[in-house]
Amino acid sequence: MSTSLKNSQAGYYELLGLVREPFAMAPDPEFFYQTKNHGECLNRLEMSLRLNRGLHVVIGDVGTGKTTLSRLLLDRFVEFGKNYDFFLILNPTWRDGMEFLLFLKRLFIIKNKADVKTDTMNQVEHFLLDSAIHSNKEIVLLIDEGQKMGADQIEVIRTLLNFETNDRKLIQVVIFAQPEFQELVNQHENFKDRIAFGYVIKPLNESSTIAFIDHRLKVAGLPAGERLFTDEAKKMIHEHTKGYPRKIVNLCHYLIMDMLLNGKEIVDSTLVFKKMQSEDPFNV
Ligand SMILES: Nc1ncnc2c1ncn2[C@@H]1O[C@H](COP(=O)(O)OP(=O)(O)O)[C@@H](O)[C@H]1O
Ligand SMILES: [Mg+2]
Repeated sequence: MSTSLKNSQAGYYELLGLVREPFAMAPDPEFFYQTKNHGECLNRLEMSLRLNRGLHVVIGDVGTGKTTLSRLLLDRFVEFGKNYDFFLILNPTWRDGMEFLLFLKRLFIIKNKADVKTDTMNQVEHFLLDSAIHSNKEIVLLIDEGQKMGADQIEVIRTLLNFETNDRKLIQVVIFAQPEFQELVNQHENFKDRIAFGYVIKPLNESSTIAFIDHRLKVAGLPAGERLFTDEAKKMIHEHTKGYPRKIVNLCHYLIMDMLLNGKEIVDSTLVFKKMQSEDPFNV
């Protein structure tokens, strides 16, 4: 394996015999490693949605894998169910409930005009009724970064969840959010009561961290039997990142860079130790 960065135009991972970058930041479902916690969250979330349970909230710290899980959830419904329509909201920052409602109107492509709150809400309800009854569609609103919402938006969501036919809700909502969202929820008992599925994503333990690193390398094309990290290095990575996926991904990326720059062929404990000692303000 050549580890020379000189005289080569290839991506660094090609120098390592890989076909893809193993530790890129994008929440790419292909690199997903199903920990017990992530797997359980995904399976239960899928089931709860199929049972039309209404409101689902997944809480996790920054970098625990929420956006990745949301992509995987979508994949599951694209594959198996054609009657689900997912509407994604990635940055829920509206000034008030009305702005949120008008956003929903645009999202659902509802044409007629109205500027009073009840009217807009009525139009949304009609759209949902029409989707449920005439198009036989199950509408799901998937909101990422839910902690950016305020009390007004929570109230709109609560109202939306009241819309139902005799036997099912007209819209279901899935919210992925950082822990501070819990505080907002706690201040709104009637919203809290409606949460049919709540889940907390936790960081990885040591063995999952090791399996996570190995899995990403395998997906990136590392041949079976070859190693890029020593066992000791992987344990130290867990210790340093406390098992937070984003931190693991970041640290592993920088360690591979250090390995190449130091002309080494494996990330060992010395490299990890050096990284941990470094004064770099952007240190992971
Ligand atoms: N279970 C997992 N398997 C593989 N990679 C993961 C997993 N969970 C998170 N990651 C990676 O960690 C990083 C952060 O994940 P992300 O979904 O953006 O977290 P969050 O949305 O909670 O901040 C991404 O690079 C993602 O690919
Ligand atoms: Mg995210």
